[in-house]
Amino acid sequence: MIPIARPDIGQEEIDAVTDVLRSGMIAQGRKVKELEDRWAEFVGVKHAIATGNGTLALMSIFTGIGLEPGDEVITVSHTFAATANAILSTGATPVFVDIEPDTYLIDAKKIERAITPRTRAICPVHLFGLVADMDMIRAIADRHGLVVVEDACQAHGATFRGRKAGSFGHGAFSLYATKNMTTAEGGFVTTDEDALADWLRLYRNQGMRARYQFEMLGYNYRMTDIAAALGLAQLGKLPRNTARRQAIAARYDAAFGELPIGLPITPDGRTHVFHQYTIDVGGARDAIVADLREAGVGADIYYPMPVHRQSYIMERGLHADLPVTDGAADRTLALPIFPALTEAEQDQVIGAVKAAVERHLGPDARRSIAAGATGATSAGSTAGAAAR
Ligand SMILES: Cc1ncc(COP(=O)(O)O)c(C=O)c1O
Repeated sequence: MIPIARPDIGQEEIDAVTDVLRSGMIAQGRKVKELEDRWAEFVGVKHAIATGNGTLALMSIFTGIGLEPGDEVITVSHTFAATANAILSTGATPVFVDIEPDTYLIDAKKIERAITPRTRAICPVHLFGLVADMDMIRAIADRHGLVVVEDACQAHGATFRGRKAGSFGHGAFSLYATKNMTTAEGGFVTTDEDALADWLRLYRNQGMRARYQFEMLGYNYRMTDIAAALGLAQLGKLPRNTARRQAIAARYDAAFGELPIGLPITPDGRTHVFHQYTIDVGGARDAIVADLREAGVGADIYYPMPVHRQSYIMERGLHADLPVTDGAADRTLALPIFPALTEAEQDQVIGAVKAAVERHLGPDARRSIAAGATGATSAGSTAGAAAR
């Protein structure tokens, strides 16, 4: 089975980790500092603070900006649950707004009507490797005095008008094993605010500035030097590996151009880093996923049940009416995309997708879509994605 993701771990990573292990200095130290400095430079911000994972990065930002019970944060339901969970960890409430049907990102046009006197922050999720509409989101945040917290956990190096994800507000990144760059488990906060950066460095280390001088309440959210050594090797490869992902995406785009399915789009002024390559195949999604797996293609669904429909969220009374989100959960699937995916494997994916689409949507599907008679939609069609 071709997996949906595979980390690119080679001799460089093995040597880097082995060096740290041999050095005897394996917890947070010199390597973490070096990785933070290089990540801040890469993203184009003053500070990067390494954490044990992306969830901790989000949690520490939300705590650091002073969220309290009663506060609200506008975000999306079409995301990994960690986004909402990190908001909930402070006692604040996630307020879900719907997504755009073609990018799967927060629909910035719907943000303003969700703002209340209790809103403190907007948390766009740069899902699948594409940055949300930061022109609109920054403008709304500035107009209403809101903090922008970017969930950039899937968007390492993605850009919006030349600026990198994580540089439009306070950014959170994940370095989990399947991400575009990994330390097995790990994360970063990025910020330009000196005071927040100082607070975060204390917070992740038990509130300790000098040895056993506890200045404030903090915890252990640290990264290890073992992980950071892995991260430094990965960061060195990130531009090449991103280009590889983009080349595979371009090949898929060309191969699927004639199929009656929705392909990922990259709006003008943005670069997509293709953490996932997600397609909209309409109502036959589950049957198509089954066929793909049968053909040895590890297609997967991100995410089959939106956060607002999970029981622990419903129990908290966080109801939301999100037809486009529901549509994306029902209709989309992700295909294998990772730097080491060979041409032969790409051909296998392409062949399997064509066969499954032909089988379940039929040769006449494109014509039917034009007439509005099937569940499938081409990218950009709102009506189709809203239908359940
Ligand atoms: C969108 C999003 N937010 C948050 C996280 C949480 O990151 P982590 O798994 O490193 O805690 C992830 C990654 O898993 C993610 O994809």
